[in-house]
Amino acid sequence: MMRDRNDIRRSCFSRVPALTLLSLLVLAGCGREQSALNVAGRDAAAISLLFWVMLVGAVLLWLMVNGAFLYVSRFAPGRFDERHGRRLLIGGGIVLPTVVLTALLVWGLSLLPDSRTPGDGLVVRVTGEQWWWRVEYWPEGATEPVVSANEIRLPVGERTEFRLLADKVIHSFWIPALGGKMDMFPGRETTFTLLPDKPGTYRGQCAEFCGASHAWMAFVAVAMEPEEFDAWLQAQAEDAAPPADDAARRGQAVFRDEGCGACHTVRGTDAVGQVGPDLTHIGSRLSLGAGRARVTLDDLATWVAHTDALKPEVRMPSYDLGEDELRDLAHYLKGLR
Ligand code: CUA
Repeated sequence: MMRDRNDIRRSCFSRVPALTLLSLLVLAGCGREQSALNVAGRDAAAISLLFWVMLVGAVLLWLMVNGAFLYVSRFAPGRFDERHGRRLLIGGGIVLPTVVLTALLVWGLSLLPDSRTPGDGLVVRVTGEQWWWRVEYWPEGATEPVVSANEIRLPVGERTEFRLLADKVIHSFWIPALGGKMDMFPGRETTFTLLPDKPGTYRGQCAEFCGASHAWMAFVAVAMEPEEFDAWLQAQAEDAAPPADDAARRGQAVFRDEGCGACHTVRGTDAVGQVGPDLTHIGSRLSLGAGRARVTLDDLATWVAHTDALKPEVRMPSYDLGEDELRDLAHYLKGLR
């Protein structure tokens, strides 16, 4: 059955509320912690400005094109001859897009150099592993790094330089609230800088598909006041605190007996493994398993017992330990602050 023009128009317009609702739902997914629209750094501000200018420009162009379409098809059909039509095609179809897109390209490119300016002293080397982040802090003049994992802290108001590498496959380093993303390649170092200007806790995420647990490759990023950051870094440089009570001592024995030190380092002990994350101060971190869980006794125990279920294809095996052993081990790890 043929549908007349009014039917088609009604069915098109009836979808507008549904589409608007869908767009709002999608936008509602852009939470504050991991959103390029929640601007907390100078580089993110440039990207946000670019986004809003592009969005407003696109909406204006959409209104113009659809307005012209509605006008000639509904309100003034047959009023334009071929000469007018050709002028409209050349003006609106060739000249206007060329001018608008060239202007946007030149202006967009002029924003780019800002994120590649040199750092103010602190260098953070991050290596993308499967699926976690090896993090080394090199304050100015340091001869050895402060090693950490799965958490990036940086001082507010200073430009921190990131040197990025990857172990086996390509990853991409991204803290949306602070700036753009940068790919991480095996064997080739990439560099960029970030300047946070608002203290806070944000979320970073690997932005390049890198394997089964790509979606579970996240981290917490914390922008701190410079004095606070210096104190934190100093504390991170310390060796691990010795176990504070019997449960922690039993947990340390489990850690030793199960051979955890073959893969993990706990500075100040005989655990010096380099395969997995450094655990010297894991108890003070804000997430576990690269953003997979929280650093609570329950989550630590669950992580050790069900690593592969929580993070598919992770290199760390699940450990079949008794409930007491798990609890003591979690207690020991939680005490590594
Ligand atoms: Cu690493 Cu995706």
